Amino acid sequence: MKILMVCLGNICRSPLAEGILKSKVSSEVEVDSAGTAGYHEGELPDTRSIAVAKKYGIDITNQRSRKFTVADFDYFDLIYVMDDSNYHNVLSLARNDEDALKVKMILSELGSTANVPDPYYGGTDGFENVYAMLDDACDVISSKM
Ligand code: 4NP
Repeated sequence: MKILMVCLGNICRSPLAEGILKSKVSSEVEVDSAGTAGYHEGELPDTRSIAVAKKYGIDITNQRSRKFTVADFDYFDLIYVMDDSNYHNVLSLARNDEDALKVKMILSELGSTANVPDPYYGGTDGFENVYAMLDDACDVISSKM
């Protein structure tokens, strides 16, 4: 099974989602992340994401930001997006129903239609809140693997 986590910049939310899910599944499950925008290509995760992950025992400093590409539809089985905007951006690149059916809002795993809020312009509280949401969603995702 191969799972891709997607947000806008691939420096705040999806790197946390990648690190958290990896911590809950066996090494047979491949987990990666990407951003719909390439602004931060090649960069480390945001220092606030690195800090909140470290607080919970997860090291995400091996990650580097990259942009989502159409080839990701071929490689990954499931593509989890963080918010409605990511959802529309990824779906706009889908070539067919098979691509489109791989895309899910990550909080739909908790029975919610909510977005994982973009914490980039807020304080560290936002990162704690995002971490808690993603930890709950990844518990459900990992329980199905
Ligand atoms: P992310 O957060 O999508 O969770 O990685 C953001 C990171 C950077 C920007 C926006 C959101 N930005 O505008 O540069």
